[in-house]
Amino acid sequence: MIVLGIETSCDETACAIVDDARGIRANVVLSQLDEHRPYGGVVPEVAARAHLHYLDGLIRQALDEARLELGQVDAIAATGGPGLIGGVIVGVMTAKAMAAARGLPFVAVNHLEGHALTARLTDDVPFPYLLLLVSGGHCQLLEVEGVGQYRRLGTTIDDAVGEAFDKTAKLLGLGYPGGPLLEKAAARATNPGRFELPAPMKGRPDCDFSFSGLKTAVRRHVEQLGTLTEADVADLAAAFHHAVGQSLLDRCDRAIKAFKDRHPDGRHLVVAGGVAANKYLRDQLSKLATKRGLTFTAPPLSLCTDNAAMIAWAGLERFRLGQTDGLDFAPRPRWPLDPAAKPMKFAGAKA
Ligand code: KG4
Ligand code: ZN
Repeated sequence: MIVLGIETSCDETACAIVDDARGIRANVVLSQLDEHRPYGGVVPEVAARAHLHYLDGLIRQALDEARLELGQVDAIAATGGPGLIGGVIVGVMTAKAMAAARGLPFVAVNHLEGHALTARLTDDVPFPYLLLLVSGGHCQLLEVEGVGQYRRLGTTIDDAVGEAFDKTAKLLGLGYPGGPLLEKAAARATNPGRFELPAPMKGRPDCDFSFSGLKTAVRRHVEQLGTLTEADVADLAAAFHHAVGQSLLDRCDRAIKAFKDRHPDGRHLVVAGGVAANKYLRDQLSKLATKRGLTFTAPPLSLCTDNAAMIAWAGLERFRLGQTDGLDFAPRPRWPLDPAAKPMKFAGAKA
């Protein structure tokens, strides 16, 4: 079984082909960083136009790399949401057109489910598992019980953790994209204990997150310091990492207890999403998992940030369960993994 997947929900235009033996036959990602850098962030209109411009060529490239013809593909999957709607429409319409022209099944994939199921593509992780989903648009703890079966244990009440990385990087004058630049800056710290920042939500009885206060705390230090030296930036970046790490660990530890209560057979902690590319955080989470007797799984860095292999794989998982979508599927700007979870007033679509 071979599935072609398309990802266009944010600023990566991507096409990939995977098979049911967990093989990645092709995985082409075109990052639009240069298009958005002058604006210091993703501009939805620019992103949608770039997807439209590049997607056809990327699909051709993926088929060539996999040495396949479209006729050898069993289904076409595309991110159907959540995300920047202009881009999602480009990907969905392209996938539908290909499916219609070739008489192939179409699968609309939830982008978050793509991140959530990546560990099954890379490491064959069995259900159920506890998932920490940390990206630019989301920060959630979920019990993954099966394809399409998620139970949210916690979510952000304001900013997503990737958003906090990006905004903090901007405050420190590091530019865009913030996450990787902030990680590099922290590695240059000579006095990582110099600044103390609060670890948001630590000790609270739920499993929720909050990051807007942390960003404000960084801003206060920046204002007090006036002109920032390279050392100031590096030490603040390290303090930020420490605070985020403390917060994530505390929240995850609570979630692990809840997960074990509900799933005594559950053995895995999985991290996914762009922020899962952060080595410091991976390290911290891995230690926590070991301490709690869980196996820790984090996808390789290239499959943490947005890509189409995860969309093709989630599409394949759904397709082999007989779950396909009609060509009347409407792209969804908002699409929670656990529809029963309560909305968070200040997190909007992120929750
Ligand atoms: O999953 P993703 O590629 O896109 C969304 O679905 O949001 O995640 C992008 C986010 C950005 O906020 C980016 O700054 C963050 O992931 N990110 C990182 C790192 N690499 C990407 N954050 C921290 N450390 C990194 N190494
Ligand atoms: Zn993502």
